[in-house]
Amino acid sequence: NEGALWGARFATGPSPELQALSRSTHFDWQLALYDIAGSHAHAKALAAAGYLEADEERRMHEGLDALAAGIRDGSLQPRPGDEDVHGALESALIEVVGAELGGRLRAGRSRNDQIATLVRMYLLDHARVIARDLLALIDALVAQADAHPAVILPGRTHLQHAQPVLLAHHLQAHAWPLVRDLERLRDWRVRAAVSPYGGGALAGSTLGLDPQLVATELGLDRPSENSLDGTAARDVVAEFAFIAAQIGIDLSRFAEEIILWNTREFGFVTLDDGYSTGSSIMPQKKNPDIAELARGKAGRLVGNLSGLLTTLKGLPIAYNRDLQEDKEPVFDSVATLEVVLPAFTGMVATLSFHADRMAELAPQGFSLATDVAEWLVKRRVPFREAHEISGALVRACEQRGIGLEDASDEVLAEVSSHLTPDVREVLSIEGSVASRTGAGGTAPARVAEQRVELVERAQAA
Ligand code: ARG
Repeated sequence: NEGALWGARFATGPSPELQALSRSTHFDWQLALYDIAGSHAHAKALAAAGYLEADEERRMHEGLDALAAGIRDGSLQPRPGDEDVHGALESALIEVVGAELGGRLRAGRSRNDQIATLVRMYLLDHARVIARDLLALIDALVAQADAHPAVILPGRTHLQHAQPVLLAHHLQAHAWPLVRDLERLRDWRVRAAVSPYGGGALAGSTLGLDPQLVATELGLDRPSENSLDGTAARDVVAEFAFIAAQIGIDLSRFAEEIILWNTREFGFVTLDDGYSTGSSIMPQKKNPDIAELARGKAGRLVGNLSGLLTTLKGLPIAYNRDLQEDKEPVFDSVATLEVVLPAFTGMVATLSFHADRMAELAPQGFSLATDVAEWLVKRRVPFREAHEISGALVRACEQRGIGLEDASDEVLAEVSSHLTPDVREVLSIEGSVASRTGAGGTAPARVAEQRVELVERAQAA
């Protein structure tokens, strides 16, 4: 069992079947540079506690730097017999600095506290990348909203025409969940930036190493309060997987609308050629594959979360090897978002909107019926009655095959004496939108205020 981290108490080496099952280097090698950072910090803690002479500490850091260079340029790779990233790097270190010095580094740490720390470091770094990508998408949505300040589209509930709204309002409605995702990542960081390093296998260390020194060196706020919890807990990993899944869900809801808007029947948008795909058989096709992949990959992100939670369910404290199964799902969630978000942002930034088509459809489906009812309320008609009157007007117009705005004075009077001709002042989509001045409403002034708040919140997160 050459180069392994254990073996003395075994009469034989591990079977090939065990090795094949146990090996994790094909995914945990992604943590190699974090492992090296942990080792630098740990060497400092060992030196501070008197377990490494100044010269030994220096040679240790130099040896670790040599490994880091090899990891970066690809010349250092795990070997087939290496069980995991930790073992692979210890053997490599011993090759560089010799067994005497290289064999000192493992004192006072375990792969259990190491891996729990490294996965946090990895996620914290990628959370920054994802936050930057989210911010770029929010910027693209705000830029599109700014570019179309007066465009009105049919707002929908149950996917049916409901009330006209500003396109800018609708686009900002897709930005707000992303702002909350940014805030979730920020809030998560408080729990994630905690270092289990120094907890050892589970019970803590006898060597008097300073865990705060290690935490600070690694850019983490403080050590774990409890060595058992530090090595066993993965709620922070699951919470990250949840945020990733929620981002996927938020993208998928917008994706669904873009797919609909891009149909001939809607005709609300045209996708840029650089952000749409063709068909291998139908020469005319131009497909919204980015939106469909974003929608599809949301399922994958949810799967990663539920797989991870299922792994954690019922696991006794402290470390169990099941915990090795935490990494592939979150690595996949990270990789997924890091390809989906930039493509999605490019698609949104380059969408062309067809204002005429949106405006044509906006008043259809009697979408101004609520405006008629509220116009009546302003004339002291109780809403219950106003709702009835407006509903009766819808029915009268539907029977005649006309829109509300086409109802003659006679039709209006026939439905109700309250419906005088000046009701027409609210029977335009512009008038309807302009009058929704309540908090968070679709009136242009409210949408402009909301934009300021949206950008502030996004930048503060
Ligand atoms: N590879 C393991 C993991 O990813 C860490 C090693 C712990 N192994 C052990 N036998 N305690 O969780």
